[in-house]
Amino acid sequence: MPTILEHEPPYTVGYFVGSLATASINRQLAEALIKLAPKEFEFTEIPIRDLPLYSYDYDEDYPPVAREFKQAILDVDAVLFVTPEYNRSIPGALKNAIDWASRPYGENAFTGKPSAVIGASPGAIGTAVAQQDLRSILSFCNSRQMTAPEAYIQMTPGLIAEDGSVTNEGTETFLRDWMADFLTFVTRVLTVVPQR
Ligand code: FNR
Repeated sequence: MPTILEHEPPYTVGYFVGSLATASINRQLAEALIKLAPKEFEFTEIPIRDLPLYSYDYDEDYPPVAREFKQAILDVDAVLFVTPEYNRSIPGALKNAIDWASRPYGENAFTGKPSAVIGASPGAIGTAVAQQDLRSILSFCNSRQMTAPEAYIQMTPGLIAEDGSVTNEGTETFLRDWMADFLTFVTRVLTVVPQR
């Protein structure tokens, strides 16, 4: 079993924004997280918007957009999910994207991939229920999840400024520490879990 890091930083993080909305508060949160992240991380968005609705009819021959999507996941060291809660679960677009990534059978792009989950909502429980659903899905997809600390962000007006800065000091510190914990977690996973 390998006990040596596969490579030194920077570590690439592919991030998913679960919302397709132009004014998405979760996109704002993703931008804030990138600003607060340790310098060892490099971020690239993995877009989900253009994927058709998944069916296993595609398994024989994935369309180019789905091939590129899966390859983007395979190419990064870790993945970060920044998602809203829709009707106490994750948005359908994000579930669809995960279904694409997980198939065909035996070619699941999330296998062994370190991941973290975070989300923002105007509501007080800050996407907690959706995150539990997402954790269950990622567990089945055999991703290595950062289970703690959890991060349920209640978005209030002005909490994240237009330039992506966080205006509340306590929240800023929390998010900065959370990203630092994610770096520690990713480093550990890359040390002990063989990646493809
Ligand atoms: C919501 N919203 C919502 N909020 C929540 O805390 N729990 C929920 O279950 C839901 N359900 C829900 C369903 C649908 C279809 C919509 C459109 C919205 C409110 C939601 O948190 C709010 O619209 C956020 O702005 C969504 O995040 P994005 O899309 O702006 O990133």
